[in-house]
Amino acid sequence: MTETLTIALSKGRIFKETVPLLAAAGIEPLDDPEKSRKLILDTNREDVKLVIIRASDVPTYVQYGAADIGVAGKDVLMEHGGAGIYEPLDLKIAQCRLMVAGRPDARPRGGRLRIATKFVDSTRRYYAARGKQVEIIKLYGSMELAPIVGLADYIVDLVDTGNTLKANGLEPLEHIAHISSRLIVNKAAMKMKHARVKALIEQLKSAVEK
Ligand code: ATP
Ligand code: PRP
Repeated sequence: MTETLTIALSKGRIFKETVPLLAAAGIEPLDDPEKSRKLILDTNREDVKLVIIRASDVPTYVQYGAADIGVAGKDVLMEHGGAGIYEPLDLKIAQCRLMVAGRPDARPRGGRLRIATKFVDSTRRYYAARGKQVEIIKLYGSMELAPIVGLADYIVDLVDTGNTLKANGLEPLEHIAHISSRLIVNKAAMKMKHARVKALIEQLKSAVEK
């Protein structure tokens, strides 16, 4: 019997935007994670399963081989660091920008800038590269609130249309990185399941290029 190939995806935009690419590679989920509570989804291929997890957990599952393959945003990969993982393909989905944002009237007090973000390592690296020591305040969501209530001078967050910033009276200030989602592969799976993984990468690559 062929060993199962496990693919880790997160619900929401990554699942929605990955499904058409997987379909081009002949893989179709038999359930919709928005409707089902199941965390392991069967597909039309008996040897391929999907696991549905939090976006920020995808690299960890792939690193430890709990999933052979995954789809993760570059923002999440920059925070994870990439141990145990190959990143063979830019899927060009879920595209946005990692940016510094703040109030248009921001007048930081003297001393270290306070930056609220979920992206602690990327933020530290960005400011360190500019020779700035900043105080980073780790948040898990709703970063836009922090400058409004005086928790931080600026935020580092993902921006697409800019609507979320605008709705909260903030503006984009500095571009840190272009973000898109990447196909990631467990290093051992790349060796042990090479033929199938390679074939899938090639099929997804042609789907992305169409
Ligand atoms: P978690 O559940 O782990 O906190 P999350 O809620 O940020 O993650 P999603 O909102 O589904 O998860 O985002 C998944 C990925 O999609 C992000 O890691 C990022 O790469 C990308 N992304 C996030 N926001 C946008 C956006 N507004 N437009 C386009 N892509 C985005
Ligand atoms: C993401 C991100 C921003 C927003 C930016 O949130 O965290 O808040 O999108 O997009 P915009 O520039 O087009 O407004 P998302 O919609 O994924 O909600 P989340 O906070 O639940 O992740």
